[in-house]
Amino acid sequence: MIRVGFVGIGHNAIGHIEAHRRVGKSEVVAFCDINPDRLQQAGERFGVSRLYRLAEELCVQPDIDAVSIHTGDPFHVEPFVAALQHGKHVLVEKPVANTVSQIEMMVAAARAADPRLKIAVGYILRFNPVYEQIHALCASGQLGRIYYLEGDYIHNLLYQANQTDTHTGVNWYLEMEKPIVGGGSHPLDLLRWFSGGEVVEVQGYSNHVAFPAMKADDCQVALFRLHNGAIAKVAALYGPRLAMPPFNNLRIYGTRGTVEREQVALAKDEGDVHPSLVQIEAERVAGHPYDPEVADWLDAIAEDRLPRCDFYDGANSTVATLVAAEAIAQRAKLLVPGYARR
Ligand SMILES: NC(=O)c1ccc[n+]([C@@H]2O[C@H](COP(=O)([O-])OP(=O)(O)OC[C@H]3O[C@@H](n4cnc5c(N)ncnc54)[C@H](O)[C@@H]3O)[C@@H](O)[C@H]2O)c1
Repeated sequence: MIRVGFVGIGHNAIGHIEAHRRVGKSEVVAFCDINPDRLQQAGERFGVSRLYRLAEELCVQPDIDAVSIHTGDPFHVEPFVAALQHGKHVLVEKPVANTVSQIEMMVAAARAADPRLKIAVGYILRFNPVYEQIHALCASGQLGRIYYLEGDYIHNLLYQANQTDTHTGVNWYLEMEKPIVGGGSHPLDLLRWFSGGEVVEVQGYSNHVAFPAMKADDCQVALFRLHNGAIAKVAALYGPRLAMPPFNNLRIYGTRGTVEREQVALAKDEGDVHPSLVQIEAERVAGHPYDPEVADWLDAIAEDRLPRCDFYDGANSTVATLVAAEAIAQRAKLLVPGYARR
């Protein structure tokens, strides 16, 4: 059994803790949260008695094999660096970080760490069966050469205005969240995964109309240029009055096939102008598929292989959107760095 400690016990961590119990390949042995009430409540709810206020105190424990990090977006860096320095496998929630300087510190920590450690990033859409099927279509070449992709994160998050942390008095969501990063990196991660391309350049626009309580612009739209010539568009809106549109408004255009949400047109070859229409058949999963995501990380540790979304892959999805936020703010076109696994 892999012994796991959790840092940051908010609603996202609870989903992961419950998944660990269902998957049955690990033992959740310790919790850390700076909020003593949350820590106490979670300890009682899950029967976990080793409770720590500082990430360092949890990470130093020699019997803990792996650390699962679920602090708010701006607070991943400190537990991430501590966990790797103490030789723990890590799962870190997306976005990997909230600023480019934070992500560079995390890349430096990952490069300095034991290369056998498995670091997974929580880009959970990769575990949705619909997107797994679309990825298989792309990877098998059935869509031909992919030249344009779209995906959106359009989510009514207005309720976050009432979620001020009672312990710190801070609402990180209103104060520090960047929609194109926190939300938009989910579809961008899918588009990178589907296209097999790396982002090299980005520009975009934003406005601040629908969710005035947020400090950042709540409507952010970015265009990404990929190294293979493909173009990807992502819109991140936090103030729509409807819930999320289906399939993240996904669209993929290739020289032999097109995906528009769950509809797929597949040509026999590039000269075939009468493609057959098929539907994505995969199971529709409501909510977050935490179980396969957690199982993949635990299996990666047990089998000594990379997780499906390993650190450098996830960091590249996050950094492209962090630079997108900068490009939007500066009304400029900016180059995006890429982090190679060494
Ligand atoms: N993959 C997904 O689909 C998905 C879904 C929801 C949230 N998330 C991500 O999960 C993370 C957590 O989200 P949430 O909504 O549960 O946040 P939250 O703010 O509700 O919970 C975060 C917890 O971390 C604690 N914390 C903050 N700094 C800490 C520190 N330095 N050490 C220890 N504890 C600390 C806070 O007290 C709080 O209890 C975010 O990065 C979010 O973007 C991902």
